[in-house]
Amino acid sequence: MHLALATCVVRSWRATDVDSLARHADNRKIWINLRDAFPHPYTKRDAREFIRATRRRSPETFFAIAVGEEAVGGIGFVLHPDVERVSAEIGYWLAEPFWGRGIVTDALVAVTGHAIETYHLTRLYAVPFAWNSPSCRVLEKAGYLLEARLRNSAIKDGQLTDQLQYAFVAADHRTS
Ligand SMILES: CC(C)(COP(=O)(O)OP(=O)(O)OC[C@H]1O[C@@H](n2cnc3c(N)ncnc32)[C@H](O)[C@@H]1OP(=O)(O)O)[C@@H](O)C(=O)NCCC(=O)NCCS
Repeated sequence: MHLALATCVVRSWRATDVDSLARHADNRKIWINLRDAFPHPYTKRDAREFIRATRRRSPETFFAIAVGEEAVGGIGFVLHPDVERVSAEIGYWLAEPFWGRGIVTDALVAVTGHAIETYHLTRLYAVPFAWNSPSCRVLEKAGYLLEARLRNSAIKDGQLTDQLQYAFVAADHRTS
């Protein structure tokens, strides 16, 4: 996988990304906005294990966001089984020094299109914590619509929070 975009490249994770992944992912401001499965602190061992597992997984649905040669973030989606096989959940993070340059918006638009075309999906969705205004803004800029406030649906760092469900419905974006 290699998508060259205006602000970044979305590409497959490489074994050589371990150091940059561990350095950029080890940030409480990133962890506080993600599921607890994302480690904190984030060690080189975590990075090695993540990259090894991701490179083995088929189909490939987790990608690095790179600026130049350096992996500075991640974006990926989880395909669903059974009756929800037309739908997937998308998630992403970016290294703090690169925030505010439109990078994740670019990556999200591209990966949303890639997922819909490759897996014939009708819908992608994300559920940011209600406090995560930058992520909500990114979703809106990429064409996702707010569908629901999932009240008291998650607990992060001991704090009960609402999640906001955003979806990109392919039928809304068809031109013909
Ligand atoms: C959320 C995150 C992915 C955004 O990535 P990014 O590349 O900086 O996003 P972009 O530059 O494409 O867009 C950010 C938008 O949020 C806006 N924004 C930033 N801080 C904001 C705030 N406190 N309130 C409202 N909007 C805010 C920016 O102004 C920008 O919108 P604009 O283009 O209309 O000005 C990044 O901050 C991050 O990795 N955060 C930690 C992990 C995370 O939250 N992941 C998502 C979990 S659902």
